[in-house]
This record gives sequence, structure tokens and C-alpha cells, in this order.
Amino acid sequence: MSETENVRVAVRVRPFNSREKQRNAQSIVAMDDNTTLLFSVDTTASVAAADEPKRFTFDRSYWSHNGFTEADNGLCIADDNHENGLKYADQETVYRDLGHTLLMNAWDGYNAAMFAYGQTGSGKSYSIVGYGQNKGIVPRFCEEIFQTIEHRSGDGMQVEVTLSMLEIYNEVAKDLLNVQKLQQQTNDNNNNSNNNSKNQSKSKKKGLKVREHPTKGFYAEGLKSFLVTNYKEIEDHINEGTTNRSIAATNMNETSSRAHTIIVINLIQKSNNTTKQSSINLVDLAGSERLSGTQATGDRLKEGVSINQSLSCVGNCIHALAEKAQGKNVKVPYRDSVLTRLLQNALGGNSKTVMLATISPADINYDETLSTLRYADRAKQIRNHAKINKDSTDKLVRELREENEKLKRLMETGTTGSGMANGSATPTPINGMIMMGAMSPDALNEAKQRWEDEMRAAMEENERQMAQMKQSYEERLSKEAEDRAARHKSDQPSGGGGGGQDDRQQLELDKRDNPYLSNLNFDEQLSGKICYIIRKGVNTIGKSEDCAIQLMGPSIQEHHALVHRLDSGKVILERCSDDCRVLLNGDVVNTKVNLSHNDRLLFGTTQLFVFTHSDQTLKSKMTYADVSFELAQEEIATKAGFALNNDDQSMEQALLNKDLLEVIPTVDEANAISEELEKFVRFEIMLVSPQFLGKPGDRTEVYVRMRNIESGQEFEWTKDEFLNRLYVMKEMYQNYESGEEDWDLPPERDPFVEDAHRECHIGTAQVYLQSLAFMIELKEQLSINDYTGSEVGIVNVEVVPCDQVGNEYDERDDVYVDSPQELMGRSIHFVVKVNGCRGLPSRFTDIYVRFRVFLDEEDIRTDTMSDTSNPDFNFKKIYSFSRVTQQLVDYLKDGFINLQIWGKQSVKFTNIGKQSTIGGRNTKQLFQEELDKQGNELMTGFKMNGRIVDPNKQSIIVELLLMKKQQARQQQRIENIRRLVEMAENCRKKKISVQLVKDLLFTTTPEMADALINQVPEGFKFLNQKPLINLKKTLNAKKGRFQWICFKELR
Ligand SMILES: Nc1ncnc2c1ncn2[C@@H]1O[C@H](COP(=O)(O)OP(=O)(O)OP(=O)(O)O)[C@@H](O)[C@H]1O
Ligand SMILES: [Mg+2]
Repeated sequence: MSETENVRVAVRVRPFNSREKQRNAQSIVAMDDNTTLLFSVDTTASVAAADEPKRFTFDRSYWSHNGFTEADNGLCIADDNHENGLKYADQETVYRDLGHTLLMNAWDGYNAAMFAYGQTGSGKSYSIVGYGQNKGIVPRFCEEIFQTIEHRSGDGMQVEVTLSMLEIYNEVAKDLLNVQKLQQQTNDNNNNSNNNSKNQSKSKKKGLKVREHPTKGFYAEGLKSFLVTNYKEIEDHINEGTTNRSIAATNMNETSSRAHTIIVINLIQKSNNTTKQSSINLVDLAGSERLSGTQATGDRLKEGVSINQSLSCVGNCIHALAEKAQGKNVKVPYRDSVLTRLLQNALGGNSKTVMLATISPADINYDETLSTLRYADRAKQIRNHAKINKDSTDKLVRELREENEKLKRLMETGTTGSGMANGSATPTPINGMIMMGAMSPDALNEAKQRWEDEMRAAMEENERQMAQMKQSYEERLSKEAEDRAARHKSDQPSGGGGGGQDDRQQLELDKRDNPYLSNLNFDEQLSGKICYIIRKGVNTIGKSEDCAIQLMGPSIQEHHALVHRLDSGKVILERCSDDCRVLLNGDVVNTKVNLSHNDRLLFGTTQLFVFTHSDQTLKSKMTYADVSFELAQEEIATKAGFALNNDDQSMEQALLNKDLLEVIPTVDEANAISEELEKFVRFEIMLVSPQFLGKPGDRTEVYVRMRNIESGQEFEWTKDEFLNRLYVMKEMYQNYESGEEDWDLPPERDPFVEDAHRECHIGTAQVYLQSLAFMIELKEQLSINDYTGSEVGIVNVEVVPCDQVGNEYDERDDVYVDSPQELMGRSIHFVVKVNGCRGLPSRFTDIYVRFRVFLDEEDIRTDTMSDTSNPDFNFKKIYSFSRVTQQLVDYLKDGFINLQIWGKQSVKFTNIGKQSTIGGRNTKQLFQEELDKQGNELMTGFKMNGRIVDPNKQSIIVELLLMKKQQARQQQRIENIRRLVEMAENCRKKKISVQLVKDLLFTTTPEMADALINQVPEGFKFLNQKPLINLKKTLNAKKGRFQWICFKELR
């Protein structure tokens, strides 16, 4: 009998992190009992908007944002003096509610699962695993298992606890507790018919094979599961698994926040020939923003890359299950990803399941938080059908035997699909077999082969389980001990020390007595997991196997650096050659340097460590701050000229800082990979203003420009597009490093190659509509600026008032109004003409202009002109408004049309990426030449917005301020001129001095502008009073002339 119940859903909000505190971030989350409220933010004003908050009700809402203090040992406890002290949910509270209940279910014989879902840094790992004293659900769960076993000893129950730990990264399941196997196995992971993963069908991936058992569903073949007898053993294994993740993230170049970690605990209770078993899956999912990021981009690689197929697929399954719960007949796409295959039971199957959604309280994370809450809200609707897994042991063994006999018969008769088609109880693992009739003989053979393979594996799995059931607990324990001893000899992860208890103790002793390097990772959970002890004498660091400290990764050389530990206790570092990039506290190391306690070291582009020398701390009286990955990255960025603006506490600046901290190190990494793989591609960071993008608000965005030095083409990618490509670059690099022959991808899937015909945003021109607000025509030659603000051509544009059929008004029609307000309620018509562009860069062709006017929902496009730098579009569109509203008046007075000029780049070369040198020089040499030409040393100066940023002089703040100032000044000039005209009209002045207009244009202070405008009523006091501009003539008869002057002067 199964019990149907909904997935329990809880949400937890974390405290502000240090960066958020530093900028006085606003909290946008509130909790009232089980309701979570999310307040919207006004992105332009950086304050919470007055809208009604969004409300979500869950089974539990955990307030961990404030109301606590940190004890000396780091334990977070409720602060009774704080107004939210009572509300504060600590780790124990969360465990009691969620973990303990799951454990109770498990003891009853139900399968149980918990998923933690949320954006990166929102507290998934904090809740699931925990940090330091603040132990999370997993350790508490494990502790309680053994406490209960001890408590219940004597009740005749034999309890077996086994543990496995696996990771899913890029659709490959890896055994985190069996590194050797991990490296030996090859798996294509696509045996199950899965259209979504066709992109990987050729590439060989290391990992576990995900099989489908005819009755038990999907399982990871050969996943190691350890019999554990006490909490310490579990802790050791989990530690080892986390260290292995850390090594993969550092040495195998994986993006940890894109990996899912699953801890599987099996609880088997045996008594009087009865077996009760429960499988518990504790899942720390990948950061969810990666999902939205991929959806947001229009990247052509999107389809071809399993950026996070598993995460999107969990979402799709939840969606389908929620619909199913409403009675709809939908198919749940479990098969589409490795994660959902392995966790099919946990989602909508035989399991009691909990979902914990973790959220950030900060204003800048509004979008992510909203999406997490919506996701969780949908998960509430999933209905699971859990049953107690209890049976007589004899029966279980008998069933396994019978099943194997059945499978054997099926194999012998070879009637692969018939059993299923006839409605047999044994489904074939390959559902696609139903379509046998439509298959070619080869395909049919292949499918048959696969099916037989699956059957054989299923029989082996059954045999394994039977053997296990027959084995006594003592026999299993002694086998386990043997395995452990063997493993210790061969399985030591380099630098990890995460293996057994003895190794960990040894490592702790070594750390106490020696200086060492410990790793820093973006994912805090993985920081400090890799330690390299610096022994007396010379310690060589590099890729080569003979190095004492073997590091992998882009731009790490065979012998990269030497660390000398002298008898005096001094530790000296030197790089092996000029090629070897080492940064010490953000500075390039080019001579021998002394290492001091707490120094930050970056080798290559990804290997980041902190140096610990406890002798030095004992001798010096200094106190040392904790070093985090973020601080170390910020230091590197600052030294390279990207000092972040921490004074500006606006939300836009916070978002920009966050983006930059994410992109700066990765651009470096991408350049290093490009060099090693000879891709002739160079990346550079760009800051792009919202005006250029035609977006409202004040948020500067980070883009990455990709330049192919072979073809001369340049493309600008959004941050997300770049990061997604980097993910593929890393995978490609990993395949290259591990010697796979087919590491190089065909151009259509190569992340370094952009579609040569992809459209590029050449530049933007803004057409201010102020003249139209007075019903005056505008005829303009406006400059077109590119991403960097440089002029790349001019556009000839006209905006002319007209009648409803498009007859343009001229001076005789006298439609001029004294004030834009006069237009209210009237009908107006005007024509927008884009005549053509001049002087565009010659590398572009297929050029067109697109724009929107007022509330247009779609872009208006001119025709496309090819093979010319001076395209004539002769484009014309009439706009009619039957009743002018205040919104339209405001738009005409202050708004502008953003003309975006788009085109394609002509291709110089067609064999992109297929040659390894150009003119005998490789990628690195070409880049070096380029940098030399610009008089800059490799890696010391970043390129940003097309300019080399001098680390000593210029910083991102300067760059940004410059951009903002330019924008503000232009707007101010227009505003001044508008006020001048208004003043003249109010005073019924018909003429204005040209000098006055000029002076006003070049005025930099508001006081001066006021003074000049105030001269209008008094008449003009300038020496140079002639010629005077005839206002009436300018504004009425000569239409547009006035506006023309403004724009001309502005340029
Ligand atoms: N409830 C909490 N109380 C105190 N600190 C927290 C809490 N939740 C998270 N943190 C802190 O926030 C930081 C990020 O948390 P965590 O590592 O759990 O994020 P995550 O969701 O696992 O991110 P990722 O997707 O990158 O793995 C850590 O420093 C963690 O200690
Ligand atoms: Mg985490």
C-alpha cells in the first residue's frame, strides 16, 4: 500500500554576506509564520518600491537572516535581545523539522529525499552540509542514525548503513568516493534514448554508466557504497568526497557551482527474516541562476551544450508533475537528464520528499529570489506515492532469483520488445524498441545490442544484491576493512588528505609543523580542501609528474615555480621562466620573493591558494584577517586596474561589481585556454552603458568582446553568453589535457568560434525628440557610437510633423506650439525618416537600422543594404496618435529614439581554427606581439572597452564615471537649451544671441547656466551680440535649425 502525499516545501533566507553589509544592502524578504513575502525593488531608484509584496506560502519558512549572534567558536545562536531572536531558525531547528522527520520516515522503511534549490551563494550547502560548528542536515542526520542504533541495541534488529556520494557535472555522473574508477571508466551516457544529449554522443566522458533496471528503475552502475559503522566513518567519507570535488574543480577545471552533489544513505534493518530498507537521497543542486542565464541568451551554442541539462530537466519534471497532480495527462521527462533519471523516485515516485529553497535577502537578487520562490511554489503540488519497503528476506532473494530467470529467458528468446508490447510485467529498458519496425537493420542491431547489455547489467545487479543479502553483516564488515586497506595504498588524492582518519590526522600534524598552501575556491564549501605541505628544501610546482606539487590548468607550465624552504624558516618563491604566470597578492612575480603568512598566490589563471606559515604567526604579534576567494579575486582585479567602486552603494554599482568579480578571472582563463588550444581568439572586458543598449535605468552591463585575430572579426557577448561558452571551453580543455583525440569540436559547436554571419550591433545614435514636442521638424546628421563610445559613422535622420496621410508640414502650415502641453488631447502625426549612414567601418555588410518609437512593442527595421559603408535606406514610417496623452508629451519632451545600427562582418578567412600558426606564429606569440606593440607587459594590463587600462592610473571607476559624466553632460546641455527657449518664449523675446547659445552649451556648472538663462529677460549684455538668432524664425519658420545648432555643438 502506498501513501500519497505532497512534496514538503520549505524556504530559508540567509544573512547578508560581507559585501552586502558593506554596501548597506536592503532586505527585500520578510517572513510571517509560513508565508514568505518578497518586496519588489525599483531598479532606477534603488529602493523598495511601494508595490504589494509577492506572497508565497510553504510548509515552512525559515528566517535565518538576523536575530542571531555568533559564539566564539563560530556557532550561530538565537539572540534573545534581538527583535527577531525568537524567529531565528538555526541549523538545529531546520534539522529537527526536515532532517529528523525524514529520518523517522526512513526508519519506518520509506525512501526519503531532500533537494536544496537556490542561486549560488544562497545557502544550499550551508543547510545541507553546513560550515564548521554550524553543522548542516547531513552530519546531524548521520549522527542521529548512529545514536538511534546505539539506543536501540538489544532490540534484535541488525542495522546496516551504507553511504555513496556522487556528483553530476555536465551530464556525467561521477563517483566521488571512488576516484580511481572515475578515471578508468569511459561512458557515453547516452544509451537511453535521449534526444537532448545527442550533442555528446561522440564525446567520451569519464563517469558512471546510468543503467535502467527493468523493475527498480535507473541506477548508477558500479557506484561504490560503503558500509559504515559510526558517524566518524561517514564524516571521513564525505570529507573525501568533498576533497575530490575540490580537486575536480581546481585541477580538472570544473565550475563547481554547476555541479549537483548527491549523498545516498541506505538504511537496511533486518530482524527475524524481515528486511526493511530505505534509500535516502540528500541532494545539493547546482546554482539555479545558471539556468536563467542560459535561457536569457540567444546563443547559438545553447542547443548544443548541456549547460545544465539536469537542472532544467528537474524544472521540467516538476512542471509536468504539477500538471499531472491537476489531473492532466502529461509525460514526465525523467529520461532527459542524468539527475532526473537517478532521482526518478524522489520526484513523484516512491519517496517522501522535501524541497528546501534557499534565498538571498538582498535587493540585487530580486529576480533570482522570485524565480526560486516560484519554482518552490510549483514543487508544492507534486504528489509522491511512498510505500514501506518491507519484506521477508527470503522473499526478496527469491524475487531477485526469479527475476533473473525471467531476464535470462527473455535474452534467450531474443524477443526484445515483444514482452513489453504484449503488456508483460517486465518492461524493456529501451522504450524506443517499440519503434523497431521503423528502424534500419543496423540501428536495430545496435538497439538490440544495447538492450542485451542492459539486461546483462540488470542480472549482475540482481546477483550483487542477492550475494549481499546472503552475506552476514560480519562478513561484509571484514570485506569492507580489506577494501579500505587496499584503497589506502593506491587511492590517495594528491594534496587532499581527505581519505581515512589516519591520513587526516597525519595531515593535521603536518599542517601544524610545516608551512602549507591551501586552495581557495569560488564555492566556499570547497575552499581549504586541498593542502600542499611545503617541505624543507626545494618544492617544485608544475604540471609535470616529477613535481612535488602537481597543478593542472590553463597556462600552468610543466615546471612552473619553485618554493624554497630554508632552514631558517624562510620560504622563498620564484617562477621557473618568464612564461610562468604567478601572482603574489595580485602582483606579478618576476623575481625571487619571500612568502609571508596569509599571502595569496595565483598560479596560471585558476590555481589560487593562501599560504599559511604558523611559525610566523607565533613570532609576530599581528592578527591576520581570514582570506576568502572573493577578497583574493578582488585584490587581483584591483591590482590589474579594476578597482571596484565600493563607495558607490547603489544597486547598479553592486550588480556591476558582482558581474565584474565573476568575469575578470574568467576572461583571463579563457585567454589562457585559447592560447593553449591555439584558437587565435582573444577576449576583453567591455562596460556597456544602458543607453547604448537602448535600455532604461542606469545599469552598466559587463560584456565580453571576442576578437579573432585570424579573421579580424569581433563579436560582443553578454556576460552569460560568455560564461556559458567558457563552460564548454573548460570541457574542451579538459579533454585536450587528458589526451582525448577528439577534443577539438567542429566549428558549429566550438565555443571559440562565432557564427561568421551573426549580426553585430555596430553602434547606436540617439535622436532626441524635443523639437517634435514643439511640432518642429528635425533634420540631423547624428554620430553613431559603438560599445566603447567611439564614433563609427553618422546617420542621416529626419523627424517631421505631418498630416494623417504623411504630407509633411512646412513653414506655411504653422503648426508650431509654444508649449508641448498644448498638444494634450490633440491628434498628431509625424514621419520618421532614416535616410542613410555614412562612413561605417568597412568590415561590415548587410547593414540595417532598427528602432522603436514610444510604446512600440517590436522593433521597426529598415531594409538591409549590402557591400557598402554608406548605405542609403530611404526608410520612412508615419506615426499617428489620435489623442496625445501626458505620457506622450513627456516622451516627446525628454525622450529619444534609439537608432541601433546592425550588420554582419565580412569574413576574411574561412578555415578558422584549423591551422595552428599564422605566419609561423602561434596564438600566444601573436597576442604577445600585440601587447608589446601597445607597450604593455603580458597580464599586467587588462584591455577594457578597447583601451588598455593602466593599472597604476586608471581604474574601472574612472572608466565608468567618464561614461556616466559624458551622458549626463549631454542631457544637461539639452535641458539648458530647453530652459533657454522656454525663458525666451515666456518673455516674448524673438531673438537670442548666438553667443548666449554657445556660452550655454559650454557651461559646466548649473549656476552659470542659471545666470546665462536669466539674462534673457534683461536683454543681452554680450559684446558679440550679432548675429542674433531669430527665435520665431528658428522655431517656426526655419524649423529644426535651433535643434540642429544644439546637436552640432554637442558633438
Ligand atoms: N543560514 C545561514 N546562516 C549563516 N550563513 C549562511 C547561511 N546560509 C548561507 N550562509 C553563508 O553564505 C555563504 C554561501 O552559502 P553556501 O555555500 O551554502 O551557498 P550555496 O547555495 O551552496 O552556493 P553554491 O551554489 O555556490 O554552492 C557561505 O559563507 C555560508 O556560510
Ligand atoms: Mg554549495
